[in-house]
Amino acid sequence: VRSFTTDPDLPLSQGRYASPLRTERVAAVLGVSLGVLFAVCFVTGLYSHLHQHPQGALPIPPRPAGLYRLTQGLHVATGIASIPVLLAKLWVVWPRFVSFPPARDAAHAVERVGLLPLVGGGVFLLFSGTANVAQWYPWRFSFTAAHFWTAWMVVGALIAHVGAKWAVSGRALRRGHVDDADTAAAPGTRDGLTRRSFLGVVAGASGILTLATVGQTVSPLRRLSVLAPRDPSVGSQGRPVNRGARNARVVEAARDPSYRLEVSGRVQRPLSLTADELVAMALHDAELPIACVEGWSFSARWQGVRVRDLLAAAGAAPGRTVLVESLEPAGAYRTSTLNRRQAADRDTLLATHIDGERLSLDHGFPCRLIAPNRPGVLQTKWVRRVVVL
Ligand code: HEM
Repeated sequence: VRSFTTDPDLPLSQGRYASPLRTERVAAVLGVSLGVLFAVCFVTGLYSHLHQHPQGALPIPPRPAGLYRLTQGLHVATGIASIPVLLAKLWVVWPRFVSFPPARDAAHAVERVGLLPLVGGGVFLLFSGTANVAQWYPWRFSFTAAHFWTAWMVVGALIAHVGAKWAVSGRALRRGHVDDADTAAAPGTRDGLTRRSFLGVVAGASGILTLATVGQTVSPLRRLSVLAPRDPSVGSQGRPVNRGARNARVVEAARDPSYRLEVSGRVQRPLSLTADELVAMALHDAELPIACVEGWSFSARWQGVRVRDLLAAAGAAPGRTVLVESLEPAGAYRTSTLNRRQAADRDTLLATHIDGERLSLDHGFPCRLIAPNRPGVLQTKWVRRVVVL
């Protein structure tokens, strides 16, 4: 067993950090687990970014309807599950950070400098992500921009780290059975845990943390999820809401009897509909999820008017992109865009009802956008105008 704490490169740590758990194999197992969790986080995070920053060459399809719910639920769940794994990994390799001399040669120095973005960035991603889902913003910079660019930096540093550790980790993993047979009787132990039970404790902590939060999107588990920031059955009309009507400063405009929904832009017959006229047209039903970027979600039965029917009534040519505008006077999500396929989907609605009830003000009265496979922040509420582009 090659232990970090008996490594001759580590004079500072001799004895002081002694533990039979600090081996290359334990570090490699935790490293592979973190690599997988971070890879899932990165891919699902990029998918979320693509929703919010659409690229013409990669239009997001509206189907499968629940895909964003799955990817963003996974993003937050795998991110949270990474926390105990990262802490355990840092504990195991800690003696390396204080080894002396700090670098053996130039290549080793480069490898060690790469640990700064890897460790610092990884800790920042997990901390900023968790703070964001808890709706705590202790900083002044944009969370999404910082989280996004740090993710690229961490993934770059992770690839370099995997390259540097590939051979040594491969060897440590292949001779695994020898390691696993070792027990707490190994010399130098202070904690009485075998390597296998240490990894079991880390996996258990990760699993418990996941169960304690994932009920915010997997509703049958919601009673177990005592740490979940959201319960999918609590809120206006029994459903959570992030940004209410008062916060969005739309209460008066949404209740104003002179409210009209306008359909304009590249149309032959611009429309202007009262809230009652809209309800009279709201004949289509769809069971669709609403999936928040923060990882919580729920599924509901929405009733409303199909966007494609509104466009046809206004004489728009088929296959147009559509801008949906809210009554909100300001805010990053005041408008959202539906690409051609999203606008033409049979279940893309301006909804007037949720689960058979007229939408409450907080859910977007007089009408809101609900479309398949979209982040909640793009399901524009209090819609005042649909502009055909
Ligand atoms: C506890 C861990 C994490 C949590 C709770 C978390 C949470 C979030 C949330 C809430 C968003 C949506 C932000 C928004 O659109 O408003 C997001 C986006 C994102 N996350 Fe994470 N995250 C975590 C870890 C990670 C990790 C480890 C990576 C990469 C390795 C990552 C990469 C991304 C990326 C690329 C985005 C897209 C940002 C954008 O829209 O520009 N996240 N994350």
